[in-house]
Amino acid sequence: MGAPASKSKNEKRFFEVRLQSVVTGQPINFDLFLVVSGKPLLFRKQKDTLSEERLRSLIQHGGQKFLVPEEQRVLYLQSLKSMVNNPDSSEETKSKYIKESAYLHVNDLFEKESVAETVKDAEVLVSEMVDFVSDDVSAVANLMQLSRHDYYTYNHCVDVAVYSIALAKQLYGNNREMLIQAGLGGLLHDIGKRKIDIQLINKTTKLTQEEWAEMKRHPEYGKELLIEVPHIPEEARRAVYEHHENHDGTGYPHKKRGDEVCELSKLVSIADVFDALTTERSYHKAMSPNEALDTMFGMQPGKFDPDIFEVFNKRFDKKTNLKLLSDFDPCHAVSITKIEKK
Ligand SMILES: [Fe+2]
Ligand SMILES: [Fe+2]
Repeated sequence: MGAPASKSKNEKRFFEVRLQSVVTGQPINFDLFLVVSGKPLLFRKQKDTLSEERLRSLIQHGGQKFLVPEEQRVLYLQSLKSMVNNPDSSEETKSKYIKESAYLHVNDLFEKESVAETVKDAEVLVSEMVDFVSDDVSAVANLMQLSRHDYYTYNHCVDVAVYSIALAKQLYGNNREMLIQAGLGGLLHDIGKRKIDIQLINKTTKLTQEEWAEMKRHPEYGKELLIEVPHIPEEARRAVYEHHENHDGTGYPHKKRGDEVCELSKLVSIADVFDALTTERSYHKAMSPNEALDTMFGMQPGKFDPDIFEVFNKRFDKKTNLKLLSDFDPCHAVSITKIEKK
């Protein structure tokens, strides 16, 4: 999983960044390329300035991404960081750049060979997010509003981390240890998918029975991978292993029920389904948060711990007329096509 690094003919490597992630009206400290007829074309050089109007016009014309040379990744991340640390930046701007930086780092989470290094990066990332949301209640809301809707497949992990931190904040206040565990559980919950064939993960048609069986092994694969990282908090480890267990014992891998599942796993499970529903997939449009929560409410009693779900649900109140079939699984896009109007 991860952002496809593009290569030009002379093998120059690039990574993708969203148009909106580039700061306008001041010199940029990296080169920006656009993809024209399938090839990277230099659009702005280091130290050039991109105007707000020019950026808006690119977006209006359907532009989605810039390419930045791989060797300038550190410069790009520095520029995001300086926006976050700038006292003149609004909370909204800070949230935007924290998330951009998280999305970019999370690419490495799934591509680095060493799981120990991956987890070390995840810890740094989560502690940055937690520091940010600990300061200010509106920061959580800002981070939650910035879902990137299917731009990179690994967005999901960052978004689940954000929702898990937000829910943990409602449950545990500013207990930093709990917020970190929730963020790590969210960020790493699908780490077992590293062991699953990428073709299967990206398959956009119905999965065969054997394919489903393999997909459903990712919690166990995740548990195995984390053996290499003994210091990771037990709750975060359990979230990796238990996030597909259901409150009524109908989940997997072990059909655990009720309090056999740890609280953090229950919380990550809610965040996981919420993100799957509110993110645009190849076969379904993103639901609004209210639609998603109402849909999830319809999966009660059974799927989620009712008390924890109620805490999450409190933020929203509108009703919709959507429902999911009972075998919905947040792991695979096609399962979401089973949304039916009542
Ligand atoms: Fe999962
Ligand atoms: Fe997931």
